[in-house]
Amino acid sequence: VIILKIGGSVITEKNLVERAKIGEMRRIAKELSKKKEDLLLIHGVGSFGHPQAKKYSLNTRFHAPGLCVTHSSASRLNHIFVDILNNHFPAVSIHPFDIIIAEDGEIRKIFFEAFFEALRKGIVPVTHGDVVFDLKKGNSIISGDKLVSYFALSLTPKRVGMGTNVDGVLDEKGEVIKEITPERFKELQNIFFTSGTHDVTGEMKGKVIELLKLAEKGIESFIFNALQEGNIEKFLRGERVGTVIRSD
Ligand SMILES: Nc1ncnc2c1ncn2[C@@H]1O[C@H](COP(=O)(O)OP(=O)(O)OP(=O)(O)O)[C@@H](O)[C@H]1O
Ligand SMILES: [Mg+2]
Repeated sequence: VIILKIGGSVITEKNLVERAKIGEMRRIAKELSKKKEDLLLIHGVGSFGHPQAKKYSLNTRFHAPGLCVTHSSASRLNHIFVDILNNHFPAVSIHPFDIIIAEDGEIRKIFFEAFFEALRKGIVPVTHGDVVFDLKKGNSIISGDKLVSYFALSLTPKRVGMGTNVDGVLDEKGEVIKEITPERFKELQNIFFTSGTHDVTGEMKGKVIELLKLAEKGIESFIFNALQEGNIEKFLRGERVGTVIRSD
């Protein structure tokens, strides 16, 4: 199986509220239709979810109405995307809220079977960053980035990728860093910045931290620009794109 996350920065206008990029979704659906292997798709929620999560401080407290509108917004984006994917191949929504219970921000229980059955039947499961019930905190945010590492550690995937809105992890000069290893990461603490959008899940640094967990288990992964036409196809074919995260 190939695990691919498409960033919320790619399929939404991230500095607005609830603005989906339909044209990008259509182009991505076409690129994904070239797939030769089973695919598990995860997407970020960008302007569907981050603004609400921030407004209600869902990272730090339980807030019932906030939880509900955030989940609803994230699901809305998921359905828009899945409807477009279905013009090209069978794809089905699986919402983390329905199948995950967290404890202190970490996934405690997950009902995996729906993913496995979908994959077995040639259907692409499409899940996303979401807010879920948390046994300690009431609610917590499970980012798309976190789902990538969780699934990758559970499924032994053939390839793992995160498509975002920049060419990869960039250094101080704005150039793409070709390779990051746990050792190299220690020297890279100063290259991360915040973009000033609503992002509540750590942006680029959060991604790298999740992917380093995979590197330590010998699973390499790629962070690349999914706004650049052709990059998703290249990734699916196994070509090198963007920054590779691997073990030393
Ligand atoms: N060193 C860095 N190199 C590249 N991008 C960086 C760096 N430091 C911070 N960033 C920011 O991280 C952003 C990408 O992360 P972000 O979480 O916004 O995207 P995403 O994961 O695609 O969206 P979402 O979280 O909605 O799924 C870039 O657009 C950039 O603003
Ligand atoms: Mg993000």
